[in-house]
Amino acid sequence: MAISFEINGQERQVEAASDTPLLWVLRDYLGLTGTKYSCGMSLCGACTVHVNGNPVRSCVTPVSSVAGKSVTTIEGVDTSREGRAVRSAWNELDVVQCGYCQSGQIMAAAALLAGNPDPDDADIDAAMAGNICRCATYVRIRAALKEAAKSLA
Ligand code: FES
Ligand code: FES
Repeated sequence: MAISFEINGQERQVEAASDTPLLWVLRDYLGLTGTKYSCGMSLCGACTVHVNGNPVRSCVTPVSSVAGKSVTTIEGVDTSREGRAVRSAWNELDVVQCGYCQSGQIMAAAALLAGNPDPDDADIDAAMAGNICRCATYVRIRAALKEAAKSLA
């Protein structure tokens, strides 16, 4: 079936089975490979994107559920103020180690700041708990999130 949605500010239409995971559509149909596949079962957060501003696991989101909605991936994170602040704090604090989990971490962090401009440690831990980092960059992620929040104040 033909499914239309907005992706990083552009209207696109894809021909796909309605239950195709959004992650497949992003990577294989649209060539947006910044969003990563890891567990495929909503357990790790590596595939996190925004749908209408909310963080979702694209590996378990059927593409039909985003019809008519707005999807933002790491390639479009700069379109929001929070996304720009997070990206810049991530660079400044050199958060990334191997990098595999980081597009998901950045999308989760940007969504957190959009809903809560001044998160404390508990808010950060709750919002980021589902984003696993096998390199254990958690301390730098927390510091960068606070730095990003400061830059937005
Ligand atoms: S790949 Fe989607 S949550 Fe792990
Ligand atoms: S930076 Fe390597 S998995 Fe997170």
